[in-house]
Amino acid sequence: SKRYSITLLPGDGIGPEVISVAKHVLNLAGSLEGIEFNFQEMPMGGSALDLVGVPLPEETLSAAKKSDAVLLGAIGGYKWDKNEKHLKPETGLLQLREGLRVFANLRPATVLPQLVDASTLKKEVAEGVDLMVVRELTGGIYFGKPRGFGTNEDGEEIGFNTEVYATYEVDRIARVAFETARKRHGKLCSVDKANVLEASMFWRKRVIAVAAEYPDVELSHMYVDNAAMQLVRNPKQFDTIVTNNIFGDILSDEASMITGSIGMLPSASLGSSGPGLFEPIHGSAPDIANQDKANPLATVLSAAMLLKYGLGEENAAKRIENAVLETLNKGFRTGDIYSAGNKLVGCKEMGEEVLKSVDSQVAAA
Ligand code: NAD
Ligand code: IPM
Ligand code: MN
Repeated sequence: SKRYSITLLPGDGIGPEVISVAKHVLNLAGSLEGIEFNFQEMPMGGSALDLVGVPLPEETLSAAKKSDAVLLGAIGGYKWDKNEKHLKPETGLLQLREGLRVFANLRPATVLPQLVDASTLKKEVAEGVDLMVVRELTGGIYFGKPRGFGTNEDGEEIGFNTEVYATYEVDRIARVAFETARKRHGKLCSVDKANVLEASMFWRKRVIAVAAEYPDVELSHMYVDNAAMQLVRNPKQFDTIVTNNIFGDILSDEASMITGSIGMLPSASLGSSGPGLFEPIHGSAPDIANQDKANPLATVLSAAMLLKYGLGEENAAKRIENAVLETLNKGFRTGDIYSAGNKLVGCKEMGEEVLKSVDSQVAAA
């Protein structure tokens, strides 16, 4: 049987709750496909700060680098919000993405027929939405220099960051986006602020240059403010979106709500080589942590992306995706996706139901 080593980074808040569910689901789906997982749990984020004083311990990064794939829950929380920058849980996550060189973040937003009622948009606007945000993840304003705090010429305190992209950074994310669009419906929309920002003018120039390699993909450009509006006006116009680090962060949270809840959206972060990083797009949700209320499906679907994009195990991935659909078909809903007539369950019970559905597909197969 095949064996893979997976680094699990439960993190903070609801992270451990959703990772526990995803681990069980991975184990079962794997065993049905003759796959064995060797899980290694490592500290990360606020819990690592409490344990060893840094948000990304060296042992955690080296374990992650040595494994076949990394599954992260979420990090962050009130307790560490006032920490200095290098001691913030979020800094640990950025160091992890940088350390693994996972520059391409795929964030699919699909409105499942079962969840049309959970969307805050009208049924006719939400139904059938199926888009993919390709977010640049290791550059832009998140990493650009100069950055920091200082004083201006009037002696006023200031904080500053730099949005900067080099040719190789735009070219490689554009290629991932064109390849992604090619496998989907052949439409790519590049989102920028090229009417104002030089970094965006340059981004657009490079995307247009790379487009010459993909004559079969229909490329369009949109300013980010308009894109934010179009996403709620008519999200079905989008197939694949490619954008920079910060616009991708914001637009993917916006896109998540079309699907019913941020608790549903998975992601895959990939580099040119080495293990991928898989995580839900949501955070540690401190407002509902330790109450068994979290929706584990974003993490379960991230585990499916891990199988598909990280390990090339499409059959095991399909088992998980089908099990999620079947669980929703049976009417099980966590609070964030609940609508009248369904069965309200907590995180654990949702996990148990997904496991039952993974199991029952064997009987069907
Ligand atoms: P958040 O995504 O944690 O929560 C936003 C809202 O969505 C909250 O009301 C929360 O209860 C709800 N929510 C999120 N995930 C849910 C789920 N699975 N099921 C049900 N409801 C869910 O964003 P925030 O409140 O802005 O940030 C909280 C902390 O998480 C901060 O410290 C932030 O920096 C961190 N954060 C971490 C990540 C990550 O680890 N990748 C991502 C975003 C935010
Ligand atoms: C996300 C988060 C992170 C980001 C934070 C926690 C660093 O919001 O994964 O979407 O901004 O990338
Ligand atoms: Mn975010």
